[in-house]
Amino acid sequence: MKRILKWIGIIIGGIILLLLIIGLTIFMNGKSKLGGSFDVGHSLGTIAADSSQLVRGEYLAHIVSRCTGCHSDQFEGIILIDDAAFGVIPAPNLTSGKGGIGGHYQDADWERAIRHGVGMDDRVLVGMPSEFFTVYGDKDLKSLIAFLKTLPAVENELPQRELGPMAYLLIGTGMYEPPAITLDHEAVHDSAPEAAVDAAYGEYLVNLVACGECHGATLHGPEFTGPPPGPDLSPEGNLGEWTEDDFVLTLRSGTTPDGRILDSEIMPWPRMSRMSDLELKAIWRYLQHI
Ligand code: HEC
Ligand code: HEC
Repeated sequence: MKRILKWIGIIIGGIILLLLIIGLTIFMNGKSKLGGSFDVGHSLGTIAADSSQLVRGEYLAHIVSRCTGCHSDQFEGIILIDDAAFGVIPAPNLTSGKGGIGGHYQDADWERAIRHGVGMDDRVLVGMPSEFFTVYGDKDLKSLIAFLKTLPAVENELPQRELGPMAYLLIGTGMYEPPAITLDHEAVHDSAPEAAVDAAYGEYLVNLVACGECHGATLHGPEFTGPPPGPDLSPEGNLGEWTEDDFVLTLRSGTTPDGRILDSEIMPWPRMSRMSDLELKAIWRYLQHI
């Protein structure tokens, strides 16, 4: 009896040790992925914008790319996540007020953060959807940055990012890849598709809105249940039964053709409802092709 107990003890101890080693390896892997340095080019040149570009930039920031959805209404930043598993992840204060990055940022830094997912002090950004924003055309990105540079200063000091074990586990196993790691930093973006009711422009907008952040990278629903899960947007999902008019009306009213009311807390349709008919129809065209 004593011998059996001893062996059971050894086996359990061995399993615990093995799990610890696996856990530690994944953790170290996650850490090393975040430690890389990224030599990203700067292609925009000096950014100076006229008033029509500032209007465009404001529209992109508020309505299309929903920067305020994460960075808070006045871009003053907010703690997005704060728990033992994921750690503390603030969406930083983007203004030039105390605690904000605006006063320290040069034009090239804005481009690095938005298009390449690399923040101040070469930090690999986690949770900032640059994997989508990377397709921003130069003209639109210049308008966006020009607008961000005019943000009124708001004082808001937030804690430093501190990732928890679950965050390292997701990054270490590759279940979540911070965009800076996977993006092609050499890609050229001098032209965006012309604004037209076609799939090419729709695809561009779907990236600028980052629909894939919730609906999954391929828009077939999330790969793993991330926060928050969005349904399949391909013709294989509910949208297979919809017409173009149904789609536009759904995003304008928040009510689906079969009478479901979309939760505006998790599906940002009130912002999308302010997009033009041309934009919504272009998105619809693209969704037909996925
Ligand atoms: C889904 C939420 C989300 C959206 C949408 C989002 N961000 Fe972020 N952003 C974050 C998070 C989280 C961080 C901090 C990541 C970190 O510290 O690892 C961040 C970081 C940044 C940084 C880097 C700040 C620094 O410390 O260097 C900039 C600049 C930025 N975002 C600008 C934008 C702009 C501009 C938009 C809109 C085009 C935008 N973000 C949209 C979540 C978001
Ligand atoms: C921040 C997360 C998020 C983003 C970004 C987002 N969605 Fe959604 N979407 C959701 C969620 C969650 C639902 C389900 C809401 C519900 O059932 O109340 C949803 C529902 C929908 C529906 C209804 C689908 C159905 O089967 O009834 C459509 C259509 C839709 N989204 C389109 C889009 C499009 C197009 C974009 C980008 C232009 C987009 N969404 C961006 C989270 C998001």
